[in-house]
Amino acid sequence: MAVTIKKVSSNTELTEIAALADIIWHECFTDIISLGQIDYMVEKFQSYSAMTRQIIEQNYSYYSVYDDEKLCGYIGVKPESDDRFFLSKLYLHSEKRGRGIARLMLEKVFDEAKKCGKKKVYLTVNKHNDHAIAVYKKTGFIIVNEAVTDIGGGYVMDDYIFQYNL
Ligand SMILES: CC(C)(COP(=O)(O)OP(=O)(O)OC[C@H]1O[C@@H](n2cnc3c(N)ncnc32)[C@H](O)[C@@H]1OP(=O)(O)O)[C@@H](O)C(=O)NCCC(=O)NCCS
Repeated sequence: MAVTIKKVSSNTELTEIAALADIIWHECFTDIISLGQIDYMVEKFQSYSAMTRQIIEQNYSYYSVYDDEKLCGYIGVKPESDDRFFLSKLYLHSEKRGRGIARLMLEKVFDEAKKCGKKKVYLTVNKHNDHAIAVYKKTGFIIVNEAVTDIGGGYVMDDYIFQYNL
């Protein structure tokens, strides 16, 4: 296993992430939200055009995760105007889970947050995403709030808000 994490700097890389997002979302969220909501959220938040807008208009950065030079995951982050760093996306292909790659991904997030001078990392996670919740708790994140967010299309996100103090 040789894991590398690289900041996305080309349209080609972002296109590859969009394709991977489509696969991962349709694999991991089928027991949690409806297929209609998965399709809607992938298009709204994880499509090439959506991620391009996030990077240009909202100061997002994306990182590609490679194992033995093959794309297997991605990270999306955004510095807030206060002392917080938003971990927006943390996704790993199912074949690569349980091997310690998530820890490397989270360390990368913490490093980038510190480089920006931030004191906290926060994220939202679906209340029924048991595995991700267990991973965040094991890493030292704590629940600081809950949020039900109307995302349009008749859908809501029902999330915990987790925070990690750097
Ligand atoms: C979330 C995700 C990136 C985590 O990656 P992963 O490979 O499954 O995580 P790991 O199995 O390596 O677990 C990470 C850590 O949590 C621990 N952990 C995992 N499941 C646990 C459980 N049920 N109880 C306690 N600890 C647990 C692991 O032991 C590991 O700890 P360590 O690094 O100290 O050894 C991955 O599961 C994923 O992409 N899931 C689908 C997408 C998703 O839900 N993303 C998050 C959206 S908010």
